[in-house]
Amino acid sequence: MSVFRDDILAGKVAFVTGGGSGICKGITRAFMAHGADAVIVGRNAERLEAAAKELSDATGRQCLATPADVREPPRVEAALDAAIDRFGKVDIVVNGAAGNFLCPAATMSYNAFRTVLEIDTIGTWNVTRAAFERSLRANGGLVLNISATLHYAATPLQAHASAAKAAIDSLTKSCALEWGSLGIRVNAIAPGPIDDTEGMAKLAPPDMKEALEKAVPLRRFGTVEDIANAALFLASDAASYVTGEIFVVDGGAWLPGFGAALAQ
Ligand code: NAP
Ligand code: COA
Repeated sequence: MSVFRDDILAGKVAFVTGGGSGICKGITRAFMAHGADAVIVGRNAERLEAAAKELSDATGRQCLATPADVREPPRVEAALDAAIDRFGKVDIVVNGAAGNFLCPAATMSYNAFRTVLEIDTIGTWNVTRAAFERSLRANGGLVLNISATLHYAATPLQAHASAAKAAIDSLTKSCALEWGSLGIRVNAIAPGPIDDTEGMAKLAPPDMKEALEKAVPLRRFGTVEDIANAALFLASDAASYVTGEIFVVDGGAWLPGFGAALAQ
């Protein structure tokens, strides 16, 4: 049961990278359950098609699967062209596609660092730029980047992802500044540790879950729904004066810093 009215996104079209799994599938589901049609993007065509069908069946809205690698501008452009062909416009762009793994800076290869920057940061730019050209410039809309809190202090084994998300935050503000006059809002959500996701499976060993949860001021990991609710708010008219904002949804997880032990 949603706390939002179920038609707040009626008539809107959302283009969601990473929409075939995890957090961004949850965001897509929430948008569709509140009236939007959607286009989802990922590399794994089979998983994407299955997700699109599941989301349509669950919500009664249309969901188009457009397989693409966000690192490749021609593929990104083709996915956006397919979205415009089907729906005529794109109102909401969610940049959620990302890659991550734990790796010490001391042993990280040139290509490992570049790969994560290319998926997260350059992928976000490729999609944003192509959507601007095809729909946002003329019609306005929202770009919602999925960031993280890794770079607020420094996170071990995450030099690549921290740099990538820091750049995404910067891009969020630059685009908000330059495109506000066109009726385009640009915001980001910075999730904390979110349960039952690939991100947490990769980054937090299950035997550490209890200790990690204790370190969160709100004493639990987040849910996909926590992030989807934040996305719904930012996509709704209730946030029509919000732009250039990095909205942290992490139960306070990043706050303790030095002295974390004292806060237990
Ligand atoms: P996830 O399910 O693995 O989501 C990543 C998605 O990106 C997948 O659907 C993947 O699909 C797609 N993707 C990866 N590389 C791509 C590429 N080159 N081109 C197109 N699509 C690509 O992981 P998640 O944990 O839900 O993470 C979603 C977002 O939340 C990410 O931006 C992540 O950094 C952020 N985040 C997550 C957490 C967390 O606790 N989980 C915390 C902070 C931030 P394919 O493999 O099919 O391409
Ligand atoms: N530790 C160290 N380096 C690693 C690594 C790891 N766990 N995983 C990959 N790399 C390195 C590879 O060795 C390669 O570098 P090299 O050429 O110098 O050997 C480089 O990263 C690229 O790896 P590759 O597997 O070719 O990249 P890809 O484009 O096929 O996949 C990843 C990208 C690695 C990010 C992959 O994990 C992925 O697709 N992730 C998407 C899902 C995800 O990470 N979800 C969580 C989101 S927070």
